[in-house]
Amino acid sequence: MKVLIVYETKYGNTKKAAETIGEVIKEAGNEVTVVKVDAVEMDSIKDYGAIVIGSPTYASSQAKSIKKFISSLSVVEDTKVVVFDTHSGDGISTGGAMRRAVIKMEKQIHKNSNLQKIMNGLQVAVKGIKGPLIEGELEKCKAFGEEIAKNL
Ligand SMILES: Cc1cc2nc3c(=O)[nH]c(=O)nc-3n(C[C@H](O)[C@H](O)[C@H](O)COP(=O)(O)O)c2cc1C
Repeated sequence: MKVLIVYETKYGNTKKAAETIGEVIKEAGNEVTVVKVDAVEMDSIKDYGAIVIGSPTYASSQAKSIKKFISSLSVVEDTKVVVFDTHSGDGISTGGAMRRAVIKMEKQIHKNSNLQKIMNGLQVAVKGIKGPLIEGELEKCKAFGEEIAKNL
């Protein structure tokens, strides 16, 4: 299956998670494209059977660019979607799992009946604001990628 992985990033952690997830999905025999959200070619968006979307958590939400991208997915038909976020894993955010980008992205996706959520999203912790990924999180990304590949 053709799989598109779209991410936003400022410090590189979400990119790293996206590339790791993408590698695993590719190893499972899929055709994978990993791209930063500002470089997505919307003309070919309908070619993908599945889209994986990754966003840093900003003020308990997804990045604005990702919100806009998800809104633009009204043009696709029956596309499989799964999301992940990165967030600060050591205390700057209060409220825990419910106050992270994954929750907001899944709410946004739920409103679009052309998108099929195939799995619950993954929340990936980084150290402070700039990262790097906290130990063990990359392994979680790999396992997540394997699970996605099984659900395609
Ligand atoms: C303006 C700003 C707001 C943030 N708000 C939150 C937040 O509400 N909750 C949280 O857990 N992390 C928050 N963070 C930390 C980011 O989620 C973290 O910088 C991001 O996961 C790093 O991803 P990147 O390396 O791909 O840019 C915030 C970071 C910035 C710069």
